[in-house]
Amino acid sequence: MTDCQGDGEGTMSPMELFEKLNAQGEKVRSLKSAKAEKAEIDAAVQLLLKLKVDYKQMTGQDYKAGCPPSENLIVSNNGPAADDCDGEDLVDPWNVSASSTKGVDYDKLIVRFGSSKIDKELLERIEKVSGQRAHHFLRRGIFFSHRDMHQILDAYEKHKSFYLYTGRGPSSEAMHVGHLIPFIFTKWLQDVFDIPLVIQMTDDEKYLWKDLTLEECHRFTVENAKDIIACGFDVNKTFIFSDLDYMGASPQFYRNVVKVQKHVTFNQVKGIFGFTDSDCIGKISFPAIQAAPSFSSSFPQIFGGKKDVPCLIPCAIDQDPYFRMTRDVAPRIGLLKPALLHSTFFPALQGAQTKMSASDPNSSIFLTDTPKQIKNKINKHAFSGGKDTVEEHRKYGGNTEVDVSFLYLTFFLEDDEKLEKIKEDYTSGALLTGELKKILIETLQPMIAQHQERRKQVTDEMVQQFMTPRPLNFKF
Ligand code: TYM
Repeated sequence: MTDCQGDGEGTMSPMELFEKLNAQGEKVRSLKSAKAEKAEIDAAVQLLLKLKVDYKQMTGQDYKAGCPPSENLIVSNNGPAADDCDGEDLVDPWNVSASSTKGVDYDKLIVRFGSSKIDKELLERIEKVSGQRAHHFLRRGIFFSHRDMHQILDAYEKHKSFYLYTGRGPSSEAMHVGHLIPFIFTKWLQDVFDIPLVIQMTDDEKYLWKDLTLEECHRFTVENAKDIIACGFDVNKTFIFSDLDYMGASPQFYRNVVKVQKHVTFNQVKGIFGFTDSDCIGKISFPAIQAAPSFSSSFPQIFGGKKDVPCLIPCAIDQDPYFRMTRDVAPRIGLLKPALLHSTFFPALQGAQTKMSASDPNSSIFLTDTPKQIKNKINKHAFSGGKDTVEEHRKYGGNTEVDVSFLYLTFFLEDDEKLEKIKEDYTSGALLTGELKKILIETLQPMIAQHQERRKQVTDEMVQQFMTPRPLNFKF
């Protein structure tokens, strides 16, 4: 038990028992590696076993290192660990890999993470409250999971506004197409609800995790901000900030960071993020920095010191561990829990088993790629759900569930009827893999060329404007 948590032994929560188990497991390991007395090791093992029995009784689950009790089982909001708890899919902010060629089992992930499915009822409510047809990312289940979205809509219906918060870890100059997903969707939310938006550029995170200098990370922030601005955000309603700049410039932001740091233990972040004793202390305390923008008091220039403006975070589900932690800590520091909308992953060219990643150039289509590069990458690398020969394909048809070209079209071909026809034709065998790839190439080439054109129009002065702490223009 630590100072930060304060509860007595008798009132231990499942999360606290889980942490105690983690610590005891570590103690056993270190005694063994130090070749301690047998009696001492045996006593530590006995205590470990007893704690495991208590844990099973309390939660109904077997204790497993790295897999905390799920949100719907426990009093606190810490969900299960981001990593693979049942030997199948692995999803955390740094890794995504699925055991099936169809990709991550998102329904299972909802259960494991303790979030809620975006169902028909919620879709209809979003349409009713916004007065707009739902974005195709919502209609097609690309944004598939949420936390507390109904509460955001309840408040909005009562004329209480909310704000949007999303972000980017600037690890390289070029972003890939997958990174656009949350930003395209966030732009839609900003337009239909007419609300302010804050975008965190975690250049500090990338410095801590990657072999990059501070100067490089800060430069990537500015370069990536240009791509984000090119998505069409309204400068009067959007604040983009670099952690390296804003942390020092905003006392209120830093105060919220420190509050979070005081109320989350090392054991908790180890359980949630898999940190080890040899991770640098910068990594261990970083989650508090990603948590802080979830609280409106971090932005006094925008919200005039109000602590109670609800926050909605659109992101892919890999970022959820940060916000499970944030939601757990928020009530303990007298602040509101942020709501979330989670997207699935835009898959790697090689298949839906992993997400598109900037560190593997062949897995990704970058926003800087030329039409020729796009064509070559798709023709060469896009995993096909088609059959080996034209004869077989015509006879048996292709599998759209695993075909990367088809999956990409579900993200970017907006015309529902056209998409349905492609699905029918590919499944029946009327459409061949080469023809499907051609449709994708012809969809992505102009889309990326237009993005590049809009990015060219983004000047350094515009970036400066977006990144200056200032009041935003919106009505409450
Ligand atoms: P980063 O830079 O890894 O990713 C930026 C955003 O893109 C999403 N994303 C994807 N979405 C769909 N398909 C993919 N293949 C894919 N890859 C990445 C991420 O979920 C994210 O929304 N630590 C964060 C930066 C951050 C942030 C936030 C993100 C700070 N605060 C608040 C979201 C919300 C990061 O490194 O993101």
